Amino acid sequence: MIANVGGRSRFITFEGGEGTGKSTQAARLAERLRARGEEVVLTREPGGSPRAEELRRIILSGEAKAHGAMAEAVLFSAARIDHLRETIRPALERGAFVVCDRFADSTRAYQGALGNMDPRIVAALEKVVIGSTRPGLTLMLDLPAEAGLARARERAGGERLDRFEAEGPDFHRALRASFLDIAEAEPERIKIIPADGDPDEVAARIWDAVAARYAFNAVESAS
Ligand code: TYD
Repeated sequence: MIANVGGRSRFITFEGGEGTGKSTQAARLAERLRARGEEVVLTREPGGSPRAEELRRIILSGEAKAHGAMAEAVLFSAARIDHLRETIRPALERGAFVVCDRFADSTRAYQGALGNMDPRIVAALEKVVIGSTRPGLTLMLDLPAEAGLARARERAGGERLDRFEAEGPDFHRALRASFLDIAEAEPERIKIIPADGDPDEVAARIWDAVAARYAFNAVESAS
């Protein structure tokens, strides 16, 4: 049995475009929850379990691209199945919070919307892969595409950009739009977090959303 807080799954996902600061903010949220005495498993996709990390290397190397969006969606799904089985579900069953940097909404946006896949196929695949392990809260970090891409390039420095970061500005604009569409379709689960400005401010916006969703008390949420 998976323990919930007030009927809310403790599974929290971060989503958004490249360079929106997801990884940093996911780590900060994990720390803040730990400071309240909660057990937190901080994880990411693709990856998060040994087999899924192996698939991550193949997917992000660019080798998968030639096979098309459907094949990529299947590879991300294979990694997700292992991640759910080995890492996410056991943690939720122990009563831990799981904070995950990207999850199924990334497949909807990157392979689904941008890969021109039939939305019914994407939805069916998602249902088969995740079953009832849906996030209780998704934090959608939103930033203008140019700003995110510039941050991602800065982060990569002189090193080669990965397969998705190497795409042009039109790709990133369409990506942002598709994430916003996904968020608008599920306002109950997904909270859009403006990701511009100071990282402390973004962290405060995130904490307010988490505190509201899990009914933590207001004093803490203001700190
Ligand atoms: P990563 O280096 O983790 O990028 P980021 O810091 O932006 O999260 O690489 C993950 C890449 O994989 C990212 O470009 C998004 C993409 N992706 C998909 O296309 N589909 C998916 O289902 C997932 C989980 C990620």
